[in-house]
Amino acid sequence: MTDAYAVIGNPVAHSKSPEIHAAFARHTSQAIVYKRIFCEPDAFVETVRAFQAEGGKGLNITVPFKHEAFEFATKKSARAEQAGAVNTLVFNHEGVLGDNTDGAGLIRDITVNLRCALRGKNLLLLGAGGASFGVVGPLLAEAPCALVIANRTLSKAESLVQRFSKHAAGCKLCASTCAALPPKRFDVVINATSAGLSGDMPALPENVFIPGALAYDMVYGKVTPFMQFARRHGAQGVDGLGMLVEQAAESFFIWRGMRPETAPVIAALREAQRGS
Ligand code: ATR
Repeated sequence: MTDAYAVIGNPVAHSKSPEIHAAFARHTSQAIVYKRIFCEPDAFVETVRAFQAEGGKGLNITVPFKHEAFEFATKKSARAEQAGAVNTLVFNHEGVLGDNTDGAGLIRDITVNLRCALRGKNLLLLGAGGASFGVVGPLLAEAPCALVIANRTLSKAESLVQRFSKHAAGCKLCASTCAALPPKRFDVVINATSAGLSGDMPALPENVFIPGALAYDMVYGKVTPFMQFARRHGAQGVDGLGMLVEQAAESFFIWRGMRPETAPVIAALREAQRGS
């Protein structure tokens, strides 16, 4: 029987994961099938159990089920524990392993694909929701000089800082609102808010970027107001397509034990985006 995988979410129709994993499977000559599973908000556990009972080998988890997947896993990786969320499940004889590949995907896209080292840099992370939770630990592991977490609601940024303070080592980790940022220019600004989805962006001072800074929006598939703002103010505005493919590659590695090439898949998705 061909090994079966899927992405589960609500909504899920827009997910590019099936195309990405099909490309990985072709490139690595792995025989797998990968589908989308739409799940009603209160049906996560029964839907996952049904997929498992059919012989499913693993799942990617997307909005809004990453916390439920965390609870469902019987064993969790250190990075899943750190994030408090799971985006990859593995079903095997040991039970249900939960992992989180979002942070690894972001770091790989920034440091390898975009060739932007984070060590010693001043980083600004916008947002303190689920997307930020998954990436703070991996960002700190890159040993930046400072990481400011800025959020519209200060208390959420503060609790994120508190949660990760023991992982900060030599990095200055602090919380702020977007409006009251310290008077400082940043080398890398990462937008992990959902503002771009509604055509909005966090209110940022115009001098937030060093010249040529990297302005990374985790949203993909469109030029967001944040990316436009960044480009107007001397920064390089990049979307999250590379992160999407890299987190998928990390999941593929967990499931199949081999690392697919990501550059051709990113290039093909960019090409498709231009055509649409
Ligand atoms: P997710 O789990 O997908 O990250 P979330 O937990 O709802 O979603 O978090 C969304 C993040 O985007 C939050 O940091 C939110 O700020 P608040 O905590 O103040 O709500 C931020 N966000 C959403 N819309 C925004 C906007 N228009 N401007 C600034 N921040 C916004």
